[in-house]
Amino acid sequence: MSTPQADAAQTKAPVIAVDGPAGSGKSSISSTTAKALGLLYLNSGTLYRLAAHLAIDGDIPIAKHSLELLALLDKALKLTTWRGKHFFFKGKNITSALLSKEVSQAASEVAAIPELRQKLLVYLRETVDKVDRAIIIDGRDIGTVVFPEAALKVYMFARIEARAKRREQQLIRRAMPCPPLAEITREIQLRDKRDGERGTAPLIRAQDAIDFDTSDLTFRECVERFCMLIKSSLTL
Ligand code: DC
Repeated sequence: MSTPQADAAQTKAPVIAVDGPAGSGKSSISSTTAKALGLLYLNSGTLYRLAAHLAIDGDIPIAKHSLELLALLDKALKLTTWRGKHFFFKGKNITSALLSKEVSQAASEVAAIPELRQKLLVYLRETVDKVDRAIIIDGRDIGTVVFPEAALKVYMFARIEARAKRREQQLIRRAMPCPPLAEITREIQLRDKRDGERGTAPLIRAQDAIDFDTSDLTFRECVERFCMLIKSSLTL
């Protein structure tokens, strides 16, 4: 039987794969860097969040082999578009609805369903086939499973204290309910455990990825370093 890795063809547009745990800064650093360099950006986590949102909304139990959820996701993907970090469902911006605590936890549960991962893998590869420019994609398995031939792979991470603190700041900025720091830390650890221990495409560092520790850098420093890294690695 062929594996997703074996099926992966070289993409026309260069893919910059950014993987790493929740709260490492991947999404905000990647989207700002893409904007600064005129590249495309796609947040693959949002696709898992969309699946979680559909399950919650439709009251569908998140069980393995949930055919109902897969069928709903199939339909939803056809009605979904994205621009930078924004996702639109039937034209409506749904990005912030997908950031709730409930959706975050459910997203790491749906992400453990192999058939759902396969569907999103196909969606991501078909999407990249259609783009005309280099694209930064962040997630957990982008450089290891979805695009093992990516032009550049980055493994972005940060110490747990820094990640929890950032998540707290993000909730405050968005005026969303903010639990105590200890609870935020526990939630991140729970998601790390689920993302790192699942049977299909767990979060692991690709052997050829470049380590990028964001713990002690400001956001601006992270973006500057990432821009430099991309410019020195690719001809854009
Ligand atoms: O990056 P994020 O926190 O928005 O991702 C939401 C969930 O989706 C997270 O628990 C991990 C999962 N995910 C995944 O398994 N594979 C990806 N490529 C992206 C996200």
